[in-house]
Amino acid sequence: MIAHEDLKENFRCAECGDLFEVEYPAWSVQAGTAAKRNFPNPSALRWLWKERRTSTDLKDQSGVWRFRDLLPILRDEDNIVSLREGNTPLYALYRAARATGVASVYAKHQGINPTGSFKDTGMTAALSVAHERGFAWVACASTGNTSAAMAAYATRAGMRSLVLIPEGKIAWGKLSQALDYGALTCQLRTDFDGCVRVLAEIVRRAPVYLLNSVNPYRLEGQKTPALEIAEELEWQVPDHLIVPGGNLANSSALGKAFLEMKHLGLTDRVPKISIVQAEGANPLYRSMQANDGQAITPVEAHTRASAIRIGNPASWRKAVRVIHATGGWVEQVSEAEIALAKAEIGAEGIGCEPASAVTLAGLKKFVAAGKIDASETVVLLLTGHTLKDSDYTIQYHRGELLRDYEITTLRAQIDATRRNTVELDADVDQVLRALEQVAQ
Ligand code: F0G
Repeated sequence: MIAHEDLKENFRCAECGDLFEVEYPAWSVQAGTAAKRNFPNPSALRWLWKERRTSTDLKDQSGVWRFRDLLPILRDEDNIVSLREGNTPLYALYRAARATGVASVYAKHQGINPTGSFKDTGMTAALSVAHERGFAWVACASTGNTSAAMAAYATRAGMRSLVLIPEGKIAWGKLSQALDYGALTCQLRTDFDGCVRVLAEIVRRAPVYLLNSVNPYRLEGQKTPALEIAEELEWQVPDHLIVPGGNLANSSALGKAFLEMKHLGLTDRVPKISIVQAEGANPLYRSMQANDGQAITPVEAHTRASAIRIGNPASWRKAVRVIHATGGWVEQVSEAEIALAKAEIGAEGIGCEPASAVTLAGLKKFVAAGKIDASETVVLLLTGHTLKDSDYTIQYHRGELLRDYEITTLRAQIDATRRNTVELDADVDQVLRALEQVAQ
């Protein structure tokens, strides 16, 4: 085991090359044989976490630090940098339940976070560690959401941030956030994986703290939506949790959380955790098909769901361990399936960014394959807010997003969900006629 002060900038084991993971010697799952008397009392924790929601203390109001007992990563809680992240809604998806025939389908909407994505829960954790250690600069390579979150938390803490993004390949909403929050934003003429390679060298040469999801403290913060899901379901875990897969940190963090909760006696089982990737950015899917996740071959990634346009995922080993430990699966979905699912989540009155919609597209495939049955409870992890990538949404509704050859058998369903604007004069009769036409 490595003491956390000794962590090197790349967060990898010098011997095996695998990524570090935070372990709590008193009770972590890996420690396994730890004496039960060191375990926190589950009922007391459940009560405390609920009670903190009524407190006016910022660290209690945060949906991450409210659970700080399960992420004791700071020496001094005064170093917490928080924007009141977490405590996100668990929405029932009535239409998705009807359409798939599954009794209970929920969306845990991590887009309802201060910067509009799930990254805030991990960022408050890792950035607080950077702050505690006295770093002036933090840095990340990003498909957009990490950079938005990092820039916000950094400036909140009076720190500077360096963002590396692939030029022209991230959604405008996310780029605008990094600028607004004052990051030094470099658009590199490469893809996300190329940005990661450049950043690895930068953190070796300059005193900047690496905040990509290889940073194990990010994953500690990203455990908390799992705690919230369990809490919101009265500590009955769902049968399935479906998560989008990009760099594969989020699925790893949620898996760690559910395994820890069971280990500590907070819950009595774990959900099957399944990961869904875009067909054009599917290295984990291929790896599971080819060798059950023993090895991975990077791909050149292409998908309009730009958040998950990642060909060489850093946390793939952790994600494979979660799939194996929970009995989940890995699926891939097409561009048309993603776009349709995104429109359907919009039609629930909720909405999400394209990368999040792979979860509903994946659910449909799991149901069709008989892997999920009607009586089960499914939670889809929605990772980003619908306004992150409004260009995508507008192109979809205008019929400009997908090419004909991509739509294949989904034409009728896609047409039924499209809602283009109607251009009229400022004339009452014209508007009334438009209303009549739609009402018919
Ligand atoms: N969904 C969204 C909206 C994301 O932004 C990301 C990752 C993912 C899903 C995939 O999560 O990487 O943990 O498997 N975005 C990163 C970024 C890579 O830079 O914002 P993952």
